[in-house]
Amino acid sequence: MLRGSPRIKGNSNIMLENFLSGVSPEAVIYDYDANKINLKACKGCLRCNVLKKCVIRGDDWDKISKKILDADIIVFASPVYFLHFPAPVKLLLDRFRSFVNVNLTENALDYQAFDKWNKDFVLLLSLGSSSLKDTEPIIELFQHITNLLLCRDRLYYLIARRMILSGQILMNEQSLSNFYDKLGINKNEASQDYLKNKDLLQKCKELGESLSKV
Ligand SMILES: Cc1cc2nc3c(=O)[nH]c(=O)nc-3n(C[C@H](O)[C@H](O)[C@H](O)COP(=O)(O)O)c2cc1C
Repeated sequence: MLRGSPRIKGNSNIMLENFLSGVSPEAVIYDYDANKINLKACKGCLRCNVLKKCVIRGDDWDKISKKILDADIIVFASPVYFLHFPAPVKLLLDRFRSFVNVNLTENALDYQAFDKWNKDFVLLLSLGSSSLKDTEPIIELFQHITNLLLCRDRLYYLIARRMILSGQILMNEQSLSNFYDKLGINKNEASQDYLKNKDLLQKCKELGESLSKV
């Protein structure tokens, strides 16, 4: 799993903790923080097309890519920054290029996975907006990635909206109401959002449970 938030008590991290609370205790978990791992940016050499692996040396990709290939479930828990992932997460995703062969055809790029991936992909996203619109580029990107890795039917996502403060997803109804009041959001919405947040964290846990069942 990969954490994208630079905030320890970030809402996406709390969603991840809830997901993990449902995961079978026998599961082996590799926990990476995109803000702490050492990854260089893809240098666009395209040699992975032929070599089937990334040629960049001197960072953590070798180790992390092996874990990615071995994993049964891959989780990205992250905030949305400017309609996409924060840069450290994107850095890792660009390196996914080394898992696929890409050829230029007359009209488009033709992607072929080096291997069929037998894995679940989970996105746990947190964003400031009340609408899901800003998550669309990420969802589309993952539909594309899972499509070309031939596991399109195994993409799951859960999204927390209207999240501004660290730990907001755990706020009780009164604190949320006070916060909304300061922002000028109708206080009545706090009751609904409080229940939605609770329900969402429960769904994170249930997803962890269902995916890690043998
Ligand atoms: C640089 C930056 C860009 C952001 N861009 C968006 C955005 O495009 N859409 C949105 O709804 N929220 C945006 N936000 C708000 C975050 O997505 C939101 O606060 C999120 O809940 C943070 O997740 P975290 O609590 O896991 O750190 C942005 C925040 C930052 C710091």
